[in-house]
Amino acid sequence: MTETLVTVGLDERSYPIHIRSGLLADISMDLQEKQFASRYGVISDEYVAGLYGESLLQSLSNAGIQAELITFPRGEESKNLQTIATLASELARRGFDRSDALIALGGGVTGDVTGFLASIYMRGIPFVQVPTTLLAQVDSSVGGKTGVDIPEGKNLIGTFYQPRSVYIDTDVLQTLPRDELRGGLAEVIKYGVIHDADFFAFLGSNRDAVFDLDRNVITRLIARCCEIKAWVVEQDEREGGLRRILNFGHTIGHAVEAASSFRIMHGMAVGIGMCAAGDLAVKTGCLSRQDAHEIRTMVESYGLPVSVPAELDRDVIKKYLLIDKKTIGGRVFYVLPETIGKVIITDQVRSEDVDSVLRNA
Ligand code: NAD
Ligand code: GLY
Repeated sequence: MTETLVTVGLDERSYPIHIRSGLLADISMDLQEKQFASRYGVISDEYVAGLYGESLLQSLSNAGIQAELITFPRGEESKNLQTIATLASELARRGFDRSDALIALGGGVTGDVTGFLASIYMRGIPFVQVPTTLLAQVDSSVGGKTGVDIPEGKNLIGTFYQPRSVYIDTDVLQTLPRDELRGGLAEVIKYGVIHDADFFAFLGSNRDAVFDLDRNVITRLIARCCEIKAWVVEQDEREGGLRRILNFGHTIGHAVEAASSFRIMHGMAVGIGMCAAGDLAVKTGCLSRQDAHEIRTMVESYGLPVSVPAELDRDVIKKYLLIDKKTIGGRVFYVLPETIGKVIITDQVRSEDVDSVLRNA
C-alpha cells in the first residue's frame, strides 16, 4: 500500500506525518535517512510495549539503529511528574545525552509524557511520535502539545514541543479495544463538524467500513483529520485563538467527564459534549435544528452517548465548567457550530440555555 503524507508546516519546525498500513516495520528506514539521533529511547506503556515494542526494536536493530525500550505502567494515572522523573533518571542511568532522541510508542498518554520528557531532558532532545490509538493518530500526536496531570487538574504542566516526525501504522488499530476506537471516533466526528462538511458526510456513508477498519477508508479518515489539525496548528500553534476550535464538544464534555469522576471515558464525554454544543447553538440562534439533529444522529450512529446522564449532578457539571482551563476570567467560552463544517467561539451564551441543555431539554 502506498504511503499517505501530510505535512505540518511550521517553518523550521515543520514535520511529516506518514500514514500507511504496515509502517511500523519500516520506520527504521526513514530514521536511518533522517539521522535525528545516534541512539533512541523507545518510551511506551507496558501494555503497548508488550504488543509492539519488540518488533519495533527488532526492525531498528536490523537497520543498525541503536535503541532501548523503557516502559511505564499504562493509564492516565501514569501521566504525572513522578513518571517523568523516573523516566528521566532511567535515561540518565543509561547514558542518554543530547545526541540521542526519543520515540513515543503508544496512545495519547505515552505521546504526552514522551513529548514533555523530550522537551525538558537535557534542555530538549528530539522525539518522534508512533501513535497506536485512534485518538493519538488523529489528534494528540500532531500539534506539539505535551504535558502531564497534577492533582489539581489534567494537563496543567506542559510545553508546546513539536515532534520531528509522526509515523502512523493503521494496522495497530486491530488490537485496540472497541471502546478506545469509539472514543477516537468522537474526535474524528469533531473534525467534520468544525471544518469539513464533506468529511462529515463521508463518515455518514462509511460507518461500517470504519468499524471494519477497512484500510483505504481508515487511511483516508486519519489523513483528513491530520490535515485539518495541521491546518489549525499552522495558523495558531500556541492556542491564541483558532486552535480553540479543536475544543468543540470538550467544554461540556470535560465537565461531564470530571463530574462523573472520570467513569465516563473521554471520547464518550466528547460525544455528549458535541450534542450539547449543537443544542446550545440552536438555543443561541446560530445553528438550525436540522444540523443539530444531524450531529446527534452521527454521534449516536458511531455508538457514542448523546445525552448527559440523568444521575450526574448538574451543579457539579456547572462547577467544572467554571474551573475549566478554557474558561477565562469566569467567562465560559463555547465552540458552537453555525453549520456543519463551521464553528464560532463565543461566551455569549445564556446561563438558562446551558441549564436547559444540561437537562437534555
Ligand atoms: P492511552 O494512551 O492511555 O491509551 C488507551 C489505552 O489503550 C491504554 O491502556 C493503552 O495501553 C492501550 N493501547 C494503546 N494502543 C493500543 C493498541 N494499538 N492496541 C491495544 N491497546 C492499545 O490513551 P489515549 O486515549 O490514546 O490518549 C488519552 C490521552 O491523550 C489523555 O491523557 C489526553 O489528555 C491526551 N490528549 C492529548 C492531546 C494533545 O494534543 N497532546 C490531544 C488529545 C488528548
Ligand atoms: N487536542 C486539542 C489540541 O491539540 O489543541
